Amino acid sequence: MFPTKVRNVHRLLKFRHTVSPSAGKASCSRLVLGIETSCDETGAAVLDETGEILGEALHSQKEVHLRTGGIIPTVAQQLHRENIQRVVQEALERSNVEPRQLSAVATTVKPGLGLSLGIGLEFSQRFVRQHHKPFIPIHHMEAHALTVRMLQPVPFPFLVLLVSGGHSLLAVARGVDDFMLLGHTLDEAPGDTLDKVARRLSLIKHPQCSTLSGGQAVELLAKDGDRTRFPFRTPMGQTYDCCFSFAGIRNQVTTTIIKKEVEEGVEQGTLLSCVNDIAAATQHTVASHLAKRTHRAVMFCKANGLLPSDNPTLVLSGGVASNQYIRKALTIITEATGLHLLCPPAKFCTDNGVMIAWNGVERLREGKGILPPNVDVIYEPKAPLGVDMTAEVKAAAIKVPSVKIKIPN
Ligand code: KG4
Ligand code: ZN
Repeated sequence: MFPTKVRNVHRLLKFRHTVSPSAGKASCSRLVLGIETSCDETGAAVLDETGEILGEALHSQKEVHLRTGGIIPTVAQQLHRENIQRVVQEALERSNVEPRQLSAVATTVKPGLGLSLGIGLEFSQRFVRQHHKPFIPIHHMEAHALTVRMLQPVPFPFLVLLVSGGHSLLAVARGVDDFMLLGHTLDEAPGDTLDKVARRLSLIKHPQCSTLSGGQAVELLAKDGDRTRFPFRTPMGQTYDCCFSFAGIRNQVTTTIIKKEVEEGVEQGTLLSCVNDIAAATQHTVASHLAKRTHRAVMFCKANGLLPSDNPTLVLSGGVASNQYIRKALTIITEATGLHLLCPPAKFCTDNGVMIAWNGVERLREGKGILPPNVDVIYEPKAPLGVDMTAEVKAAAIKVPSVKIKIPN
Protein backbone atom coordinates (compact mmCIF):
# COMPACT_ATOMS: atom_id res chain seq x y z
CA MET A 1 0.00 0.00 0.00
CA PHE A 2 1.26 3.52 -0.69
CA PRO A 3 1.83 6.09 2.05
CA THR A 4 -1.14 8.34 2.80
CA LYS A 5 0.12 11.19 0.62
CA VAL A 6 0.29 8.99 -2.46
CA ARG A 7 -3.25 7.83 -1.82
CA ASN A 8 -4.32 11.44 -1.44
CA VAL A 9 -3.01 12.33 -4.90
CA HIS A 10 -5.19 9.58 -6.34
CA ARG A 11 -8.24 10.76 -4.41
CA LEU A 12 -7.73 14.35 -5.46
CA LEU A 13 -7.39 13.34 -9.08
CA LYS A 14 -10.51 11.27 -9.01
CA PHE A 15 -12.31 14.32 -7.73
CA ARG A 16 -10.89 16.58 -10.41
CA HIS A 17 -11.80 14.28 -13.25
CA THR A 18 -15.24 13.22 -12.18
CA VAL A 19 -16.87 16.35 -10.80
CA SER A 20 -14.53 19.10 -11.92
CA PRO A 21 -16.98 22.06 -11.87
CA SER A 22 -15.16 24.19 -14.43
CA ALA A 23 -14.21 21.47 -16.93
CA GLY A 24 -15.05 22.64 -20.43
CA LYS A 25 -15.75 26.19 -19.24
CA ALA A 26 -13.38 29.07 -19.59
CA SER A 27 -12.80 30.51 -16.11
CA CYS A 28 -11.78 34.09 -15.43
CA SER A 29 -8.31 33.15 -14.18
CA ARG A 30 -5.38 33.24 -16.61
CA LEU A 31 -5.30 30.38 -19.10
CA VAL A 32 -2.28 28.58 -20.55
CA LEU A 33 -2.12 26.30 -23.57
CA GLY A 34 0.61 23.64 -23.20
CA ILE A 35 2.11 21.76 -26.15
CA GLU A 36 4.33 18.66 -25.95
CA THR A 37 6.16 16.98 -28.86
CA SER A 38 9.58 16.10 -27.41
CA CYS A 39 9.43 12.37 -28.14
CA ASP A 40 6.55 10.21 -29.37
CA GLU A 41 3.43 11.83 -27.88
CA THR A 42 1.71 14.84 -29.43
CA GLY A 43 -0.02 16.45 -26.47
CA ALA A 44 -1.92 19.67 -25.81
CA ALA A 45 -3.91 20.97 -22.86
CA VAL A 46 -5.51 24.15 -21.54
CA LEU A 47 -5.16 24.83 -17.81
CA ASP A 48 -6.31 27.69 -15.68
CA GLU A 49 -4.12 29.25 -13.04
CA THR A 50 -5.31 26.91 -10.30
CA GLY A 51 -4.24 23.84 -12.25
CA GLU A 52 -7.74 22.93 -13.35
CA ILE A 53 -7.55 21.01 -16.62
CA LEU A 54 -10.12 22.64 -18.89
CA GLY A 55 -9.43 20.44 -21.88
CA GLU A 56 -6.72 18.13 -23.17
CA ALA A 57 -5.87 15.94 -26.16
CA LEU A 58 -3.13 13.39 -26.75
CA HIS A 59 -2.02 11.43 -29.79
CA SER A 60 0.33 8.56 -29.00
CA GLN A 61 2.69 7.13 -31.60
CA LYS A 62 3.48 4.16 -29.36
CA GLU A 63 1.89 1.49 -31.54
CA VAL A 64 3.70 2.63 -34.68
CA HIS A 65 7.06 2.61 -32.91
CA LEU A 66 6.34 -0.77 -31.33
CA ARG A 67 5.84 -2.21 -34.82
CA THR A 68 9.08 -0.72 -36.16
CA GLY A 69 11.04 -1.88 -33.10
CA GLY A 70 11.91 1.56 -31.74
CA ILE A 71 11.46 5.24 -32.47
CA ILE A 72 12.63 6.29 -35.94
CA PRO A 73 13.05 10.08 -35.57
CA THR A 74 11.82 10.92 -39.09
CA VAL A 75 8.69 8.80 -38.52
CA ALA A 76 8.07 10.51 -35.17
CA GLN A 77 8.50 13.91 -36.84
CA GLN A 78 6.04 13.06 -39.60
CA LEU A 79 3.43 11.83 -37.11
CA HIS A 80 3.78 14.99 -35.00
CA ARG A 81 3.40 17.04 -38.18
CA GLU A 82 0.23 15.15 -39.16
CA ASN A 83 -1.39 15.45 -35.73
CA ILE A 84 -0.35 18.65 -34.01
CA GLN A 85 -2.96 20.95 -35.53
CA ARG A 86 -5.81 18.56 -34.67
CA VAL A 87 -4.52 17.83 -31.14
CA VAL A 88 -4.23 21.53 -30.27
CA GLN A 89 -7.64 22.26 -31.78
CA GLU A 90 -9.22 19.42 -29.80
CA ALA A 91 -7.70 20.65 -26.54
CA LEU A 92 -9.03 24.16 -27.22
CA GLU A 93 -12.49 22.93 -28.23
CA ARG A 94 -12.81 20.61 -25.23
CA SER A 95 -11.93 23.52 -22.96
CA ASN A 96 -14.28 25.94 -24.74
CA VAL A 97 -11.43 28.38 -25.01
CA GLU A 98 -10.68 30.62 -27.97
CA PRO A 99 -7.02 31.40 -28.72
CA ARG A 100 -7.70 35.09 -27.88
CA GLN A 101 -8.62 34.08 -24.28
CA LEU A 102 -5.20 32.51 -23.62
CA SER A 103 -2.66 34.32 -21.47
CA ALA A 104 0.31 32.35 -22.86
CA VAL A 105 1.41 29.30 -24.81
CA ALA A 106 3.97 26.97 -23.20
CA THR A 107 5.84 24.43 -25.33
CA THR A 108 8.59 21.87 -24.72
CA VAL A 109 11.75 23.11 -26.44
CA LYS A 110 14.35 20.89 -24.67
CA PRO A 111 15.60 18.17 -24.24
CA GLY A 112 14.27 15.55 -26.67
CA LEU A 113 14.42 14.36 -30.26
CA GLY A 114 15.40 17.35 -32.37
CA LEU A 115 13.04 16.52 -35.20
CA SER A 116 10.10 16.08 -32.80
CA LEU A 117 10.86 19.21 -30.76
CA GLY A 118 11.08 21.18 -34.00
CA ILE A 119 7.48 20.43 -34.96
CA GLY A 120 6.03 21.61 -31.62
CA LEU A 121 8.22 24.70 -31.58
CA GLU A 122 7.48 25.68 -35.18
CA PHE A 123 3.73 25.23 -34.66
CA SER A 124 3.81 27.19 -31.39
CA GLN A 125 5.79 30.10 -32.75
CA ARG A 126 3.39 30.44 -35.65
CA PHE A 127 0.44 30.23 -33.24
CA VAL A 128 1.73 32.87 -30.79
CA ARG A 129 2.57 35.25 -33.64
CA GLN A 130 -0.83 34.81 -35.22
CA HIS A 131 -2.68 35.38 -31.95
CA HIS A 132 -0.21 37.86 -30.35
CA LYS A 133 0.39 35.71 -27.26
CA PRO A 134 3.44 35.44 -24.98
CA PHE A 135 5.52 32.28 -25.40
CA ILE A 136 6.98 30.20 -22.55
CA PRO A 137 9.69 27.71 -23.62
CA ILE A 138 9.64 24.63 -21.39
CA HIS A 139 12.33 22.19 -20.20
CA HIS A 140 10.70 18.76 -20.42
CA MET A 141 12.32 17.48 -17.20
CA GLU A 142 11.35 20.60 -15.26
CA ALA A 143 7.77 19.88 -16.33
CA HIS A 144 7.96 16.24 -15.15
CA ALA A 145 9.36 17.46 -11.81
CA LEU A 146 6.65 20.08 -11.22
CA THR A 147 3.57 18.07 -12.31
CA VAL A 148 2.96 16.88 -8.76
CA ARG A 149 2.35 20.49 -7.63
CA MET A 150 -0.65 20.67 -9.95
CA LEU A 151 -2.24 17.85 -7.94
CA GLN A 152 -1.53 19.04 -4.42
CA PRO A 153 0.55 21.68 -2.68
CA VAL A 154 4.17 20.48 -2.45
CA PRO A 155 6.40 23.28 -1.19
CA PHE A 156 10.01 23.69 -2.38
CA PRO A 157 12.52 22.26 -1.75
CA PHE A 158 11.89 18.59 -2.49
CA LEU A 159 13.94 15.72 -3.88
CA VAL A 160 12.87 14.40 -7.26
CA LEU A 161 13.68 11.17 -9.12
CA LEU A 162 12.74 11.36 -12.80
CA VAL A 163 12.83 8.14 -14.77
CA SER A 164 11.66 7.81 -18.36
CA GLY A 165 12.57 6.43 -21.77
CA GLY A 166 15.08 9.21 -22.35
CA HIS A 167 16.18 10.27 -18.87
CA SER A 168 17.14 9.26 -15.41
CA LEU A 169 18.02 11.92 -12.87
CA LEU A 170 17.98 12.86 -9.22
CA ALA A 171 17.66 16.54 -8.35
CA VAL A 172 16.66 18.88 -5.57
CA ALA A 173 13.84 21.14 -6.78
CA ARG A 174 14.35 24.47 -5.00
CA GLY A 175 12.08 26.60 -7.13
CA VAL A 176 10.21 26.61 -10.42
CA ASP A 177 13.45 27.16 -12.38
CA ASP A 178 15.96 26.29 -9.68
CA PHE A 179 17.28 22.71 -9.57
CA MET A 180 20.41 21.08 -8.12
CA LEU A 181 21.38 18.03 -10.16
CA LEU A 182 22.64 15.23 -7.88
CA GLY A 183 22.81 12.37 -10.38
CA HIS A 184 22.03 11.35 -13.95
CA THR A 185 22.46 8.30 -16.13
CA LEU A 186 25.92 7.62 -17.53
CA ASP A 187 24.62 5.55 -20.43
CA GLU A 188 20.98 4.75 -21.15
CA ALA A 189 17.73 5.58 -19.36
CA PRO A 190 15.79 2.88 -17.47
CA GLY A 191 12.78 3.06 -19.81
CA ASP A 192 15.11 2.60 -22.77
CA THR A 193 16.64 -0.46 -21.06
CA LEU A 194 13.21 -1.97 -20.38
CA ASP A 195 12.10 -1.24 -23.96
CA LYS A 196 15.24 -2.90 -25.36
CA VAL A 197 14.92 -5.95 -23.09
CA ALA A 198 11.27 -6.28 -24.11
CA ARG A 199 12.27 -6.12 -27.77
CA ARG A 200 15.07 -8.67 -27.33
CA LEU A 201 12.53 -10.97 -25.64
CA SER A 202 10.08 -10.33 -28.54
CA LEU A 203 7.37 -9.48 -26.03
CA ILE A 204 5.34 -7.92 -28.83
CA LYS A 205 4.52 -11.54 -29.78
CA HIS A 206 3.19 -12.25 -26.29
CA PRO A 207 -0.63 -12.28 -26.42
CA GLN A 208 -0.91 -10.02 -23.36
CA CYS A 209 1.78 -7.55 -24.43
CA SER A 210 1.25 -6.76 -28.12
CA THR A 211 0.12 -3.17 -27.50
CA LEU A 212 2.14 -2.41 -24.38
CA SER A 213 5.32 -0.34 -24.13
CA GLY A 214 8.41 -2.32 -23.13
CA GLY A 215 8.21 -1.12 -19.54
CA GLN A 216 4.52 -2.00 -19.24
CA ALA A 217 5.12 -5.46 -20.75
CA VAL A 218 7.99 -6.17 -18.35
CA GLU A 219 5.85 -5.07 -15.39
CA LEU A 220 2.92 -7.24 -16.44
CA LEU A 221 4.96 -10.41 -17.06
CA ALA A 222 7.04 -9.90 -13.92
CA LYS A 223 3.89 -10.34 -11.82
CA ASP A 224 3.99 -14.07 -12.59
CA GLY A 225 7.76 -14.39 -12.50
CA ASP A 226 10.36 -15.54 -10.01
CA ARG A 227 12.94 -12.76 -9.74
CA THR A 228 15.37 -14.94 -7.75
CA ARG A 229 15.91 -17.32 -10.67
CA PHE A 230 18.29 -14.87 -12.36
CA PRO A 231 20.34 -12.95 -9.80
CA PHE A 232 21.52 -10.00 -11.92
CA ARG A 233 24.05 -7.71 -10.30
CA THR A 234 23.07 -4.16 -9.36
CA PRO A 235 25.61 -1.85 -11.06
CA MET A 236 28.02 0.71 -9.58
CA GLY A 237 28.23 -0.87 -6.12
CA GLN A 238 31.72 0.62 -5.63
CA THR A 239 30.88 4.09 -6.99
CA TYR A 240 29.61 6.20 -4.13
CA ASP A 241 27.65 8.80 -6.08
CA CYS A 242 24.06 9.16 -7.28
CA CYS A 243 24.60 8.53 -10.98
CA PHE A 244 22.98 5.61 -12.75
CA SER A 245 24.04 3.02 -15.30
CA PHE A 246 21.60 0.65 -16.98
CA ALA A 247 23.61 -0.64 -19.95
CA GLY A 248 25.35 -3.21 -17.73
CA ILE A 249 22.00 -4.57 -16.54
CA ARG A 250 20.92 -4.95 -20.15
CA ASN A 251 24.16 -6.80 -20.99
CA GLN A 252 23.57 -9.28 -18.19
CA VAL A 253 19.98 -9.82 -19.31
CA THR A 254 20.98 -10.26 -22.96
CA THR A 255 23.67 -12.80 -22.01
CA THR A 256 21.07 -14.77 -20.04
CA ILE A 257 18.58 -14.63 -22.92
CA ILE A 258 21.21 -15.96 -25.37
CA LYS A 259 22.09 -18.78 -22.94
CA LYS A 260 18.43 -19.71 -22.51
CA GLU A 261 17.83 -19.67 -26.29
CA VAL A 262 20.68 -22.17 -26.69
CA GLU A 263 19.37 -24.32 -23.80
CA GLU A 264 15.84 -24.33 -25.18
CA GLY A 265 17.09 -24.81 -28.75
CA VAL A 266 15.15 -21.82 -30.11
CA GLU A 267 16.06 -18.95 -32.43
CA GLN A 268 16.18 -15.28 -31.43
CA GLY A 269 12.64 -13.96 -31.85
CA THR A 270 10.95 -16.92 -30.16
CA LEU A 271 9.23 -16.39 -26.82
CA LEU A 272 11.26 -18.14 -24.11
CA SER A 273 9.50 -20.27 -21.52
CA CYS A 274 11.26 -18.34 -18.72
CA VAL A 275 10.15 -14.93 -20.02
CA ASN A 276 8.27 -14.08 -16.79
CA ASP A 277 11.30 -14.84 -14.63
CA ILE A 278 13.61 -12.74 -16.82
CA ALA A 279 11.10 -9.86 -16.70
CA ALA A 280 10.85 -10.13 -12.89
CA ALA A 281 14.63 -10.25 -12.41
CA THR A 282 15.20 -7.30 -14.79
CA GLN A 283 12.52 -5.19 -13.12
CA HIS A 284 13.91 -6.01 -9.66
CA THR A 285 17.47 -5.07 -10.64
CA VAL A 286 16.37 -1.77 -12.20
CA ALA A 287 14.24 -1.01 -9.11
CA SER A 288 17.08 -1.87 -6.70
CA HIS A 289 19.54 0.32 -8.60
CA LEU A 290 17.13 3.26 -8.55
CA ALA A 291 16.44 2.68 -4.85
CA LYS A 292 20.13 2.54 -3.84
CA ARG A 293 21.13 5.69 -5.72
CA THR A 294 18.10 7.53 -4.35
CA HIS A 295 18.96 6.38 -0.82
CA ARG A 296 22.39 8.04 -1.21
CA ALA A 297 20.74 11.20 -2.57
CA VAL A 298 18.50 11.37 0.52
CA MET A 299 21.54 10.99 2.78
CA PHE A 300 23.44 13.67 0.84
CA CYS A 301 20.48 16.04 1.17
CA LYS A 302 20.22 15.37 4.89
CA ALA A 303 23.96 15.84 5.45
CA ASN A 304 23.82 19.19 3.66
CA GLY A 305 20.50 20.48 4.95
CA LEU A 306 18.99 20.54 1.45
CA LEU A 307 15.53 19.36 2.48
CA PRO A 308 13.22 20.76 5.16
CA SER A 309 13.25 18.85 8.44
CA ASP A 310 9.47 19.10 8.48
CA ASN A 311 7.84 16.78 5.93
CA PRO A 312 10.77 16.13 3.55
CA THR A 313 9.46 14.76 0.27
CA LEU A 314 10.63 12.58 -2.59
CA VAL A 315 8.72 13.04 -5.84
CA LEU A 316 8.90 10.18 -8.33
CA SER A 317 7.81 10.89 -11.91
CA GLY A 318 8.45 10.17 -15.61
CA GLY A 319 7.08 7.23 -17.64
CA VAL A 320 8.94 4.54 -15.66
CA ALA A 321 7.43 5.90 -12.43
CA SER A 322 4.14 4.31 -13.52
CA ASN A 323 5.71 1.01 -12.51
CA GLN A 324 4.15 -0.18 -9.25
CA TYR A 325 7.13 -2.39 -8.32
CA ILE A 326 9.51 0.56 -8.71
CA ARG A 327 7.16 2.72 -6.64
CA LYS A 328 7.22 0.10 -3.89
CA ALA A 329 11.03 -0.10 -3.99
CA LEU A 330 11.18 3.66 -3.52
CA THR A 331 8.61 3.46 -0.72
CA ILE A 332 11.00 1.15 1.15
CA ILE A 333 13.70 3.85 0.91
CA THR A 334 11.41 6.72 1.93
CA GLU A 335 10.09 4.74 4.89
CA ALA A 336 13.65 3.92 5.99
CA THR A 337 14.72 7.57 5.76
CA GLY A 338 11.60 9.35 7.00
CA LEU A 339 10.58 10.98 3.70
CA HIS A 340 7.14 11.13 2.06
CA LEU A 341 6.88 9.62 -1.38
CA LEU A 342 4.64 11.35 -3.88
CA CYS A 343 3.99 9.94 -7.36
CA PRO A 344 1.52 11.40 -9.80
CA PRO A 345 -0.83 8.77 -11.25
CA ALA A 346 0.47 6.98 -14.36
CA LYS A 347 -1.48 9.26 -16.73
CA PHE A 348 0.56 12.24 -15.53
CA CYS A 349 3.88 10.38 -15.30
CA THR A 350 4.05 9.71 -19.04
CA ASP A 351 4.37 12.57 -21.51
CA ASN A 352 1.32 14.78 -22.03
CA GLY A 353 0.32 18.37 -22.73
CA VAL A 354 -1.04 18.92 -19.22
CA MET A 355 2.37 18.85 -17.55
CA ILE A 356 3.69 21.42 -20.05
CA ALA A 357 0.72 23.71 -19.52
CA TRP A 358 1.18 23.40 -15.74
CA ASN A 359 4.86 24.34 -16.05
CA GLY A 360 3.65 27.34 -18.07
CA VAL A 361 1.23 28.27 -15.26
CA GLU A 362 4.03 28.05 -12.66
CA ARG A 363 6.29 30.27 -14.77
CA LEU A 364 3.48 32.70 -15.57
CA ARG A 365 2.66 33.09 -11.87
CA GLU A 366 6.29 33.95 -11.11
CA GLY A 367 6.91 35.95 -14.30
CA LYS A 368 9.82 33.69 -15.28
CA GLY A 369 10.91 32.96 -18.85
CA ILE A 370 7.97 34.62 -20.61
CA LEU A 371 8.86 35.82 -24.10
CA PRO A 372 7.09 38.15 -26.51
CA PRO A 373 5.68 36.32 -29.58
CA ASN A 374 8.25 37.61 -32.06
CA VAL A 375 11.36 36.26 -30.28
CA ASP A 376 13.02 33.39 -32.18
CA VAL A 377 13.53 30.36 -29.94
CA ILE A 378 15.69 27.36 -30.82
CA TYR A 379 15.15 23.81 -29.63
CA GLU A 380 17.91 21.93 -27.77
CA PRO A 381 18.03 18.11 -28.03
CA LYS A 382 20.41 17.98 -25.06
CA ALA A 383 19.86 20.19 -22.04
CA PRO A 384 20.98 19.36 -18.49
CA LEU A 385 18.62 20.29 -15.66
CA GLY A 386 19.85 22.79 -13.08
CA VAL A 387 23.20 23.29 -11.37
CA ASP A 388 25.43 20.23 -11.68
CA MET A 389 26.29 18.96 -8.17
CA THR A 390 27.34 15.45 -9.21
CA ALA A 391 31.02 16.07 -8.45
CA GLU A 392 30.18 17.24 -4.90
CA VAL A 393 28.00 14.18 -4.38
CA LYS A 394 30.80 11.90 -5.55
CA ALA A 395 33.36 13.69 -3.35
CA ALA A 396 31.12 13.12 -0.31
CA ALA A 397 31.42 9.34 -0.98
CA ILE A 398 28.48 8.48 1.25
CA LYS A 399 28.17 4.79 2.14
CA VAL A 400 24.57 3.69 2.15
CA PRO A 401 23.39 1.20 4.78
CA SER A 402 22.04 -1.97 3.23
CA VAL A 403 18.25 -1.97 2.86
CA LYS A 404 16.51 -5.12 1.65
CA ILE A 405 14.31 -4.44 -1.38
CA LYS A 406 11.86 -7.25 -0.67
CA ILE A 407 8.59 -6.83 -2.52
CA PRO A 408 6.00 -9.59 -2.84
CA ASN A 409 4.64 -10.08 -6.38
O1 KG4 B 1 8.07 9.90 -19.81
P1 KG4 B 1 7.76 9.04 -21.01
O2 KG4 B 1 6.34 8.95 -21.45
O3 KG4 B 1 8.57 9.49 -22.27
C1 KG4 B 1 9.89 9.91 -22.18
O4 KG4 B 1 10.12 11.11 -21.91
O5 KG4 B 1 10.77 9.01 -22.35
O6 KG4 B 1 8.33 7.57 -20.68
C2 KG4 B 1 8.21 6.50 -21.59
C3 KG4 B 1 8.98 5.33 -21.01
C4 KG4 B 1 9.09 4.13 -21.96
O7 KG4 B 1 10.44 3.71 -21.98
C5 KG4 B 1 8.20 3.08 -21.31
O8 KG4 B 1 8.66 1.74 -21.54
C6 KG4 B 1 8.30 3.45 -19.85
O9 KG4 B 1 8.32 4.85 -19.83
N1 KG4 B 1 7.17 2.95 -19.09
C7 KG4 B 1 7.26 2.06 -18.08
C8 KG4 B 1 5.94 1.79 -17.66
N2 KG4 B 1 5.09 2.54 -18.41
C9 KG4 B 1 5.84 3.24 -19.28
N3 KG4 B 1 8.34 1.49 -17.53
C10 KG4 B 1 8.11 0.61 -16.51
N4 KG4 B 1 6.88 0.28 -16.07
C11 KG4 B 1 5.77 0.85 -16.60
N5 KG4 B 1 4.55 0.52 -16.15
ZN1 ZN C 1 9.01 12.47 -20.48
